[in-house]
Amino acid sequence: MIEHVAMPHGSVVLLEVEDLDAALAALPDAERAHAATLGELRRREHVTGRTALHVALDDFTTPILADDRGAPVLPAGWVGSVSHKGPRAAAIISPAGAGWVGLDLERAAPPKVDIARRILTPREQAALPGSDDDRGLAVTLRFAIKEAIYKAVDPYLRRYVGFTEVELELAGEHCVVTSALGLVIEASWRAHGGHWLATARAIRP
Ligand SMILES: CC(C)(COP(=O)(O)OP(=O)(O)OC[C@H]1O[C@@H](n2cnc3c(N)ncnc32)[C@H](O)[C@@H]1OP(=O)(O)O)[C@@H](O)C(=O)NCCC(=O)NCCS
Repeated sequence: MIEHVAMPHGSVVLLEVEDLDAALAALPDAERAHAATLGELRRREHVTGRTALHVALDDFTTPILADDRGAPVLPAGWVGSVSHKGPRAAAIISPAGAGWVGLDLERAAPPKVDIARRILTPREQAALPGSDDDRGLAVTLRFAIKEAIYKAVDPYLRRYVGFTEVELELAGEHCVVTSALGLVIEASWRAHGGHWLATARAIRP
């Protein structure tokens, strides 16, 4: 399965790999060597994510390794981000020079435990819908947006950023992001195939 979803920060490739061995064999040597060090579940998700990135780049030759914080290092001229959920991975790429991008994929379902107070500011909690199901979905969506933001800001900040260090105000499929991180941060989201898809871009003003 492969799909392309247009988002404001670039085209997202959504992918499920049917034949893991074939997908592994198509990756550059250095990526195959890294994949061999991973456990089975992690290897599957990593290979699916890397395959999605290579599809997005239309380049299966240049290896995409990770930096010291785990972010994918794209070929010169590109930035990009990956997310996995179960058998599915999503990847986004964007031309370098206009900040960093982040991406997150989450099932559009209420969280198994109530994480609202851990990940949302009091103002965000107060803005949640009233019904339990709608509230749960809204919490998962905000979680996805914040994880996408984290991936876009980490290359600048290179530190853990707490979930309540950014505040979201959703306006349709766009999002007003406020923080004291010293970066201009944009975020957007889509509902797609039973998942939340969130993308973000961060740039130093
Ligand atoms: C790193 C983190 C975002 C990963 O999210 P996740 O839901 O566990 O996993 P996902 O499948 O969505 O993403 C994993 C991918 O994130 C990428 N990633 C990992 N560390 C990263 C970093 N420091 N910066 C950017 N991308 C990173 C990698 O590409 C990884 O996949 P890969 O190892 O196969 O290449 C999450 O574990 C985390 O530590 N979050 C920090 C707190 C936070 O999100 N705060 C929000 C406030 S803005």
